[in-house]
Amino acid sequence: MDVGRVDPHDEPAVAALVGRLRALRGMLEEHAAHEDRWVEPLLAELRADIAESLKVDHARIDSAIPSLETAFTRWEEAPEDERVAMGRMAYGALSSFVGAYLNHMAREEDEAMPVLQAAMTDEQLLQVSAQLRGAIPPPRMAQYVSIMLPAMNVEERTQMFAGLKANAPREVLDGMCELASGVLASSDWSAVRTRVGL
Ligand SMILES: [Fe+2]
Repeated sequence: MDVGRVDPHDEPAVAALVGRLRALRGMLEEHAAHEDRWVEPLLAELRADIAESLKVDHARIDSAIPSLETAFTRWEEAPEDERVAMGRMAYGALSSFVGAYLNHMAREEDEAMPVLQAAMTDEQLLQVSAQLRGAIPPPRMAQYVSIMLPAMNVEERTQMFAGLKANAPREVLDGMCELASGVLASSDWSAVRTRVGL
């Protein structure tokens, strides 16, 4: 939405969007590497065909990311009389990418997750999730969480903070609360605080 509504001539605003795209690229590539390391081997043992076809998806996504970034760089560097057209191309490239990416994640949820859930207990799956999250350094985790929190509903936010309250060191909980108060509307954050008792 931000890419669609930005003034294509507004250089600082376009540069800020390109910065966000680059940060997102880093996270997407890291996320795919985490899946390949922690999830793919489990799935490959249970359903090699699904694992293989998701791997093909990952390769396709990986190869689409550089041209997406190129479309944005061209827009950023375009002369005045080409900025509208370049902005439209960048928007189109992003829309196609997001469409393919959402489709990929739906396949992971609909095809891969039921296989894992049928073969493993919730505790085993939580352990995999904890190992994966443990491999992410705290400043990086803060970047993920600042994107994830606004996209969650109140139940999911409550679960996350209840878990932190029960298990995380005090300074981690405090840091996450500060982060949440920065990225959520104050009424949304106070709803979580009330439910969790923070
Ligand atoms: Fe994936």
